[in-house]
Amino acid sequence: MPCLSGSRIRGWLVVRILATCLLCICGLRSSVARTLFIFLGFREIYLVCLVYIPTPTWSNHHNIWRDAQVPQRTFSYYHPESRGLDFAGLMDDIKNAPNGSFFLLHACAHNPTGVDPTEEQWREISYQFKLKNHFPFFDMAYQGFASGDPERDAKAIRIFLEDGHQIGCAQSYAKNMGLYGQRAGCLSILCEDEMQAVAVKSQLQQIARPMYSNPPVHGALVVSIILNDPELKSLWLTEVKGMADRIIGMRKALRENLESLGSPLSWEHVTNQIGMFCYSGMTPEQVDRLTNEYHIYMTRNGRISMAGVTTGNVAYLANAIHDVTKSN
Ligand SMILES: Cc1ncc(COP(=O)(O)O)c(C=O)c1O
Repeated sequence: MPCLSGSRIRGWLVVRILATCLLCICGLRSSVARTLFIFLGFREIYLVCLVYIPTPTWSNHHNIWRDAQVPQRTFSYYHPESRGLDFAGLMDDIKNAPNGSFFLLHACAHNPTGVDPTEEQWREISYQFKLKNHFPFFDMAYQGFASGDPERDAKAIRIFLEDGHQIGCAQSYAKNMGLYGQRAGCLSILCEDEMQAVAVKSQLQQIARPMYSNPPVHGALVVSIILNDPELKSLWLTEVKGMADRIIGMRKALRENLESLGSPLSWEHVTNQIGMFCYSGMTPEQVDRLTNEYHIYMTRNGRISMAGVTTGNVAYLANAIHDVTKSN
């Protein structure tokens, strides 16, 4: 379900490549990332050649931009006290970044926090981007996992498009189509006109040639067949909703279990956050205890993969979390 489609883009051209490697943000490796700044004359338009990434973000973002030799700056995102969005900090950082900065944004179901801006907040962010002439690049690895509806989860991108931004977007089909091993995704760059689109496409092809030459096509064809067949697409949408609803149900169950165990802490954020991850707020030491004493595994920043929580293990998980957190 490409985001940049239909009449909304009114004559703007989209360069879209559906294949592997180049497709997702993870495919934006060294020369790709650097070239992003070059191929559209971004060195002239976007004078500051560095990338702003949220704090925190998917840890691999740091590696990607490091390997691309693009200096990184961070912008505020997560507010530990409320376990929600640090909207004021985020807006300040957008305002204070030099005009024409390049920002990496998570389109939905932010990893690792599970915290997304509201629609209204996205509108304010988009407005501020416009004032500052920043370039938004969306990483969309979990389309459908936030609300259960891939169309709804594309809202942030639609808002930026309506506001007339030129954008980049890296979509992954690893999760929402269960194609993890196929490296299937879609890189879209919205261009101003056909000439620019031709130039961008040829640059991307030049980058791909020495990197992987020709992509394996199997995963991309699976995606293409599903999205272009109304019956298969509708089945896929039902299944995506099923996955998202199951995760939402597990969030509720985890919170209810913790509350009924008499936990003195607030677990409201478990159900407020969305997508595959719950940023639990547990400390690295508490996570170590879960690992060592209960054989429950998660990243040491306290991020729980909600996809691994089931009706069969949620009570065990809640009991273990309660045990390691109750004395704090
Ligand atoms: C924000 C984010 N972007 C990209 C990826 C990677 O996507 P892919 O599996 O398609 O490489 C992930 C997770 O794996 C992610 O969390």
